[in-house]
Amino acid sequence: MNTAFLWHNGRIKPWAEATVHVSTHALHYGSSVFEGERVYATPKGAAYFRLSEHTQRLFESARVYDIAIGYSEDEINAACLELIRANDMRSAYVRPIVFRGAGGLGVLPKHGAPVEVAIMALDWGAYLGEAIEKGADVCVSSWHRPAPNTLPSWAKAGGNYLSSQLIAAEARRGGYDEGIALGHNGLLSEGAGENLFLVKKGKLLTPPTSAGILAGITRDSVIALAADLGLTLEERDLPREALYSADEIFMTGTAAEITPVRSVDRKTVGKGEPGPITRALQQAFFGLFDGRTADRRGWLEYVDKVDRADVSCAVVPDREDQEAAIHGRTTQQEPTLETIG
Ligand SMILES: Cc1ncc(COP(=O)(O)O)c(C=O)c1O
Repeated sequence: MNTAFLWHNGRIKPWAEATVHVSTHALHYGSSVFEGERVYATPKGAAYFRLSEHTQRLFESARVYDIAIGYSEDEINAACLELIRANDMRSAYVRPIVFRGAGGLGVLPKHGAPVEVAIMALDWGAYLGEAIEKGADVCVSSWHRPAPNTLPSWAKAGGNYLSSQLIAAEARRGGYDEGIALGHNGLLSEGAGENLFLVKKGKLLTPPTSAGILAGITRDSVIALAADLGLTLEERDLPREALYSADEIFMTGTAAEITPVRSVDRKTVGKGEPGPITRALQQAFFGLFDGRTADRRGWLEYVDKVDRADVSCAVVPDREDQEAAIHGRTTQQEPTLETIG
């Protein structure tokens, strides 16, 4: 799983050399903020998906906890790109993390206490395995998400993931792929590591960002792609029973991508297989990485300015293709609900 190199405190170094002391503050108090990002192998070379938005969220998470990162957003973006080049990767799951280091065991760190920054790139496939094709079997967890005035859910902080561990562990013990949590008010919140979407009578429904969820970047992407497909979407509070009458359900996240749900609490969702709207959104989303969906919002950030695939290719692309490559456009049509059926 690990790669040859990672980035740690300003330089690329061998994986094994990036160690920390046992008195590291984050180890004791969960004082880390992190990101999960993906690099996809596209026809034009390796590309990050929405790198700058992930880095921006990393900085926003750090601000909540007054953790001074010590690098600019541009420097972190450059480090992320450099790491993929150093490991010569075509695709990857990337994990930047900022954490309070070894500098005393007080809960409130002393002024000027060390902050460390690391970025790891891993070779990681589908997070929920074959569920991405067949659909996941999920349950509603007996554990709720933390209330908004306890742990801020918009901050992607290490400590928040104790809640996710309880939810996911209970689900796995019960033989499910994943757990869905209710919020402090008993309404639907999100999965252990994913946001949640329902489809009812052709309309997409998703809990609002005030429902104790991480404001997911994949969630945001799906909302935009749904608009492109002409779908209606409502962000609104949803009770648990909405899961049992939904025509389709899917979960979104950088790791989970767009994973259909085929049953909840052993009740079959729809026909027990990914439905047409889920499939259409999957196709639009994955099409961004194989060139079938135009990257009209500039979401892809290429690792190399010169495309490796083009360099090794003897065929000179025609002018239209070159222009499309430069502007991140494809000449093929994007999928619509009609074309997907
Ligand atoms: C708790 C939780 N909710 C939602 C998400 C989805 O967020 P994103 O799409 O930004 O990866 C994640 C994944 O990081 C998560 O851990």
